[in-house]
Amino acid sequence: MRAVSVVGVGLTQWGKRRDVSLAELMVESAMKAFADTKSLTPQDVEALYIGNAQAERFQEQAHPANVTAEYLGMSPRVVARVEMACSSGSVGVRNAFFAIASGQVDSALVLGVEKMCNVSSAEAMRNLCLVEDLTWESFHGMIPPSGFALIASRYMHEYGVTQEQLAKIAVKNHRNGAKNPIAQFRKEITVEDVLNSPMVAHPLNLLDCSPISDGSAAVILAPAKQARKYNDTPVDIIGSGQFMEPSCNCSNMESLTTWRALVNAAKDAYSMAKLSPSDLDIVETHDCFTIAELIEYEDLGLCKKGEGPALVDSGETEIGGRIPVNPSGGLKSKGHPVGATGVAQIAEVSEQLRGECGPRQVDGATVGMTQNLSGFATHHVCHILRRQN
Ligand code: COA
Repeated sequence: MRAVSVVGVGLTQWGKRRDVSLAELMVESAMKAFADTKSLTPQDVEALYIGNAQAERFQEQAHPANVTAEYLGMSPRVVARVEMACSSGSVGVRNAFFAIASGQVDSALVLGVEKMCNVSSAEAMRNLCLVEDLTWESFHGMIPPSGFALIASRYMHEYGVTQEQLAKIAVKNHRNGAKNPIAQFRKEITVEDVLNSPMVAHPLNLLDCSPISDGSAAVILAPAKQARKYNDTPVDIIGSGQFMEPSCNCSNMESLTTWRALVNAAKDAYSMAKLSPSDLDIVETHDCFTIAELIEYEDLGLCKKGEGPALVDSGETEIGGRIPVNPSGGLKSKGHPVGATGVAQIAEVSEQLRGECGPRQVDGATVGMTQNLSGFATHHVCHILRRQN
């Protein structure tokens, strides 16, 4: 297998983007990623992957890869739209990684996109419900907020975590997002703000939740040996793991509080990278709800099972702490245009490892991890990246 590098990244402004169409949003992030390389143009790239969950529902636009290729003037040898709900983007990156690693192509553009704000929050949630099992879950009210609220209640029962401790995760991520120019919410909040925000599904309040968002992210990958031709500070993808629980239905999960698919995806990524959790300098996780980030600390091995709440209290996951988590602001503050999230995580870690994140920079970061999930935490994708020497 050939080593693979990130040689260009680009993100649009996230939030409400009524000024552009879905394809225009993708072109915006793609052109930023090309401008981030020394010389690559869309016509040079051999493969195009589009991470997108629901363009049919939100835009009535099927086949977005075809449309975007034309807007970009591309004629790729390999092209695919990748749909894995909230983890569509990172599965797109993983496909591009293996296409280059295997020698099938010498360059790939991965675009992640979702444009969710042209409908009401209620309609957006109705669309998001479609990714759960219609017969056994969403029909009975098991939708993303209630599903993660169930997980939070179970965690409270098994290990004990307070709503204040969960709120601290939202406070940290808003503090980081306030320093990220593309973030949807650039506003710091307090624990009291979180506790006093409207209840969505007990014990999760509005400020425990990621928002409904528009946004796109792009990364360009190339073989590591050629990477310096395109970028002076390439970042190598040195580990990749993906895993699914035997059932997508949360009532069949072995445990609601230990996500077996995450443990396995992380294990594969660590094993490919020949690294362990203590080697990481930064992590971007899928904090769709505050409880998710807490469980992710434990299942990624940043602390032992049941010690997530103590890790929150210690402040070690803050920028400047032992292991900063979600320096971008995470899904909570940066936003969660679902198909774009996994690609944006790769972009953030790449920029961090290049030392280009300004006020939210984690000093001296050389190794970083991304983790992206879908369903009721039943499917996970992890990547490990390292700055090329
Ligand atoms: N975080 C911070 N602020 C938020 C927010 C969030 N998640 N969601 C909305 N807001 C703000 C809005 O900007 C608005 O502020 P303003 O009054 O100053 O303009 C206010 O809260 C009300 O916004 P509104 O859009 O009316 O909220 P809503 O009640 O319709 O929706 C949620 C709020 C939390 C229910 C909605 O964002 C949601 O469903 N989130 C979960 C998305 C999800 O499940 N994604 C998949 C995860 S796997």
